[in-house]
Amino acid sequence: MARKNVNLKKLISQMTLEQKVSQLIQLNAMNFAKSATEITGPAQQWGLSDEWLNTMGSTLNFADAEEMIKIQKNHMEKDPNGIPMMFMMDVIHGYRTIYPIPLGLAASFDPELVYECTRMAAKEAAAGGVNVTFTPMVDYVRDARWGRVLETAGEDPYLTSVIGATQVRAFQGDDLSDKENLAACVKHYAAYGGAEAGRDYNTVELSERILREYYLPSYKACIDAGVKMIMPSFNSLNGVPSAANSWLMKQVLKKEWKFRGTVITDYNAIGELKTHGIAENMREAAKMAFENGCDIEMMSNGYHDHLCELVRDGTIDEKKVDEAVMRVLKLKKELGLFDDPYRGASPEREKALALCPEHRAIARRAANESAVLLKNEGVLPFSKDLKKVAVIGHFAECNEIKGFWSCHGKDSECVTVADGIRAKLPGAEIITAYGCSPLWNDKNTDGFSEAVAAAKEADAVVLCLGEPQTYSGEGNSRADIRLPGMQEELARAVVAANPNCALVLFNGRPLVLTDINCPAILDMWFPGSEGGNSAADLLFGDAVPCGKITMSFPKAVGQCPIYYNHPSTGRPKWTAEDVHQAYASNYIGCGNLPLYSFGHGLSYTKFEYESMELSDTKMSAEKPLTVKITVKNVGNYAAKETVQLYFRDIYASTVRPVQQLAAFEKIALAPGEKKTVTFTVTEEMLRFYNAECKHVSEAGEFVIFTGYADHRYKEARFFLK
Ligand code: GLC
Repeated sequence: MARKNVNLKKLISQMTLEQKVSQLIQLNAMNFAKSATEITGPAQQWGLSDEWLNTMGSTLNFADAEEMIKIQKNHMEKDPNGIPMMFMMDVIHGYRTIYPIPLGLAASFDPELVYECTRMAAKEAAAGGVNVTFTPMVDYVRDARWGRVLETAGEDPYLTSVIGATQVRAFQGDDLSDKENLAACVKHYAAYGGAEAGRDYNTVELSERILREYYLPSYKACIDAGVKMIMPSFNSLNGVPSAANSWLMKQVLKKEWKFRGTVITDYNAIGELKTHGIAENMREAAKMAFENGCDIEMMSNGYHDHLCELVRDGTIDEKKVDEAVMRVLKLKKELGLFDDPYRGASPEREKALALCPEHRAIARRAANESAVLLKNEGVLPFSKDLKKVAVIGHFAECNEIKGFWSCHGKDSECVTVADGIRAKLPGAEIITAYGCSPLWNDKNTDGFSEAVAAAKEADAVVLCLGEPQTYSGEGNSRADIRLPGMQEELARAVVAANPNCALVLFNGRPLVLTDINCPAILDMWFPGSEGGNSAADLLFGDAVPCGKITMSFPKAVGQCPIYYNHPSTGRPKWTAEDVHQAYASNYIGCGNLPLYSFGHGLSYTKFEYESMELSDTKMSAEKPLTVKITVKNVGNYAAKETVQLYFRDIYASTVRPVQQLAAFEKIALAPGEKKTVTFTVTEEMLRFYNAECKHVSEAGEFVIFTGYADHRYKEARFFLK
């Protein structure tokens, strides 16, 4: 029963209080269907009465288009107000065709590629019956121990903002009623990535200044891009969990940012207000969350059990419930669900799009652009004339390379490295050997001898090691971030047997690689459906690595949290990395720099930064600075380079980072070709939050440089007047 131009005000006026509250509850699809996919959180059947289930506002984690249609059809027959359900899903880096995890895709430094991948995911998900995706995740991070760094764009607030806003635009398009567009939900608001000790769900204590400078900008960028929904985070922030944090939810989100979209809690986050110890019972928890602007309660029963009673006893004004219901119904109307409750759901189209050649090609290109060549001492690229290649390690023949949050992607649909190499070198002999397990507590080395033998007889070795994809993602933090199990020892044994060896990494976070002696290291992250083909493209030179890491790779886990945009301190270390400096801010036995810094990534070619020219040595709000950087490809491969521009505010009223990314541009250069990249530095880019949390710029001297964090290829100084 389509309802063109439904009058929402009138509709709400006809609803009972229970029916209104039911619009504000989201239960997973297991409550409405049998074949639902439980993707996250404690799966539960709530056993609510049919009156409630038949008027439920939305659901999540359903299986596919067929199931969505079945649930919606049943619902439309039973809902007395004819209000369609809304269907939500975590489409994080692909729906069925899986591309690299966000921490990998960010390494492409290519917003257009992010847009293209996201559009692909939106089309597949819309065909699968998804109306809203719980994406983008834009949590700012500095600690590689945290399991969810895989979902982020890393340790730079500007890059995280650019990527988050790009995803919002790509998912939502210009018209939300377009059946290939989804509503986006930015998460996890706020500072979930600041969990103490990098332990998921842990406490977050941050000053307002640090919050506003580093942790909040990316959510604001998504709101400015028009995101329709926002999800408060599980964590307590400065003592109060986000869902009940009035500074975050009222002062910042509603008053300062004027967010008028829908707020959905995270999974049972209202129930967790009791566990945090700030709500005595579910009635109090429901009251706190509702009064702080949480419209939809995901997977807990606070609103079901208490919201009607809170209205009837006068604690909560029914008008506030009507306003929350209006936000939910407005989104459903914008999505076109009142006109067509099934929207873009189509089992046939869902099947036709999933992993179609065009989508696999996008996933492969994304994997190629996201991979980072961390190290290469004359090993890569391998020649395609090799006769015998040994592919060794857990990930040689393993297809579990799609990452933790891979929606409906299937391991069985991912190409393994060995298969990618077999396809690349049809005439070569490919020997595989398992070596050892990637499990942290598996010390078995029985497979070493076979691996060493394979390495010895091969012309070249591809060592495929990493973390199991369940060692990152939600709830999966690690206190030791080296290669788990006996993989480091395996690497040493294999490299000793044949130094013509490249390590291909599969990881959901920066790892400590300090003791890895492999002469070449190619980080594939979790590359998704086309991982093996992409690895082969890169190893044999059909694709040239161009990714740049967006999160520091520590020398030791004891350095965490470690991030490139850190302040100087009053006693910075100036001695060599491996020399401890008395009475300075440094460690005994470990330097301060990461093993690999933000923005690092090698190529098969060589880029020469010929010049950096400034339009002037002084600038002002009225007179921005133009910076021209000329880069030449002096090597033998056509390749891409991300030209990065950093600055340092040398002195200001609060301590400033020793470097911060101002801008970047990715360019393609043929051998011998040079290009000049022009950046404009505005006064606004130089602003920061001062001690009073005012967003200001301050006159004074700045250093500007190109290269990457901790590595200055060209630098100059200028004054802001
Ligand atoms: C999870 C995650 C959140 C996700 C939600 C729905 O617990 O924290 O990122 O969107 O539940 O699956």
